[in-house]
Amino acid sequence: MEKRFYINTIGCQMNVHDSERIHALMQGCGYRPTPFPEDADLIFLNTCAIREKAEQKAYSFLGRLAAMKDQNPNLIIAVGGCVAQQDADRILERMAHVDLVLGTRAYGRLPGIIEKVSREKRRIVDVDAGETPEEKETFFSQEPVKADLGVSRFVTIMQGCDNFCAYCVVPFVRGRERSRNPEEILSEIRDLVEKGVREVTLLGQNVNSYGKKEGICSFSELLARINSIDNLYRIRFTTSHPKDLSDDLAETFGRLDKLCRHIHLPVQSGSDRILKRMNRRYTRVHYMDRIQALRSACPEIAVTTDIIVGFPGETEGDFQETLDLIETVQFDSLFAFKYSDRKGTRAAELTGKVPEKIKAQRLKTLFGLQRVLTLEKNRALVGTFQEILVDGPSKKEKKQSGTTDPGFAQWTGRTSGNKIVNFNVKKDALFNHRIHSGAQVRVYVQQAFANSLSGEIPA
Ligand code: 5AD
Ligand code: SF4
Repeated sequence: MEKRFYINTIGCQMNVHDSERIHALMQGCGYRPTPFPEDADLIFLNTCAIREKAEQKAYSFLGRLAAMKDQNPNLIIAVGGCVAQQDADRILERMAHVDLVLGTRAYGRLPGIIEKVSREKRRIVDVDAGETPEEKETFFSQEPVKADLGVSRFVTIMQGCDNFCAYCVVPFVRGRERSRNPEEILSEIRDLVEKGVREVTLLGQNVNSYGKKEGICSFSELLARINSIDNLYRIRFTTSHPKDLSDDLAETFGRLDKLCRHIHLPVQSGSDRILKRMNRRYTRVHYMDRIQALRSACPEIAVTTDIIVGFPGETEGDFQETLDLIETVQFDSLFAFKYSDRKGTRAAELTGKVPEKIKAQRLKTLFGLQRVLTLEKNRALVGTFQEILVDGPSKKEKKQSGTTDPGFAQWTGRTSGNKIVNFNVKKDALFNHRIHSGAQVRVYVQQAFANSLSGEIPA
């Protein structure tokens, strides 16, 4: 009988992307996907270790699988990702029903491992860093599987991180920085474009240092080469480190027509004292100077950020400086997190831990402020025309199969600044305006909300 697999992915875009390739590798091993864990012969959990909450989520999912394994002893339970890399022994010890623990650099060996576990019926752990070029290629050459490739795809350009920010587990679980060859990246993107993809997001923990170690091309050179791929409309990237954001890269936003007018530039804190304790290696003044460089190259650029509240030693005064920085920069939106200890990091050893209650209060205050600023930013777009890359019919349209007005259809897409726009278009004009997933259209923005905009294509 045909074997089935189920994948549960927790965490960042890197993990989502890895899971798509694991999906392809599993199919190569003769397994078919199932949307139901109960029907699976193999369950793969791709874990995230970035914050405590994500890790708890992994253990609680694994805990629930114990009963399933009792009922079906032939079920294979595999754990991959960052928690697997860091905590293989603990998983094996605490979770007797887990068969396979795979580190973040073991996926290229997955076919051999699956065969071994089915044949030998014993527990296997592979958290080795050693990845032969063939194994790496086995993994990268897997075409990510998604039912419909869609309009927008991720492309990994580098892996790992050498920065060792005091709170962060990434350098420990993803290893040292290594960049992919530009030819390989370009050919992957050309291939995606041929299949209908119109936007790519280049992924790496610190894209600014792309190619530096290997002495291949620089990140802005890579962007320029991608910019010249025909039929690709948009390029995005994430994540940049403020300390490495060069003038040259800032200027690409004014130079490259396909590069979206948006940058995600995590600041983490507005206090120099905390930035130093975090080992971020820049100051508040430097961060502001980089924002200035970006805005002078491209005045309309949208800026988003990440912030950690309650880092060990953070005083009320430090937190006020973060709020002040948020007001000064005027971010389009942000992600903010309560600090959590991560095993092996320097911050876990620091004194001055902030009580949970204060962290929660600070997070609430911060979100309250940002909500107002985001809305203001969104409102500033009302009454303008925005170029939208169309994703497809909006969720509302799919659910109700129609807007409230039967003569209109509602579609959705994003601006260059990464804002979601739902827009109405007269049904009989759909064809005239050539509206389809992957089309670029000009939409007149009429209303602003906290997380999206709405508008129409005038007849
Ligand atoms: N605690 C809280 N937030 C963290 N982040 C990374 N490590 C931690 C931690 N230990 C946040 C940072 C980073 C984002 C991906 O997750 O803001 O930019
Ligand atoms: Fe973590 Fe800092 Fe590397 Fe980002 S740059 S992945 S926060 S160590």
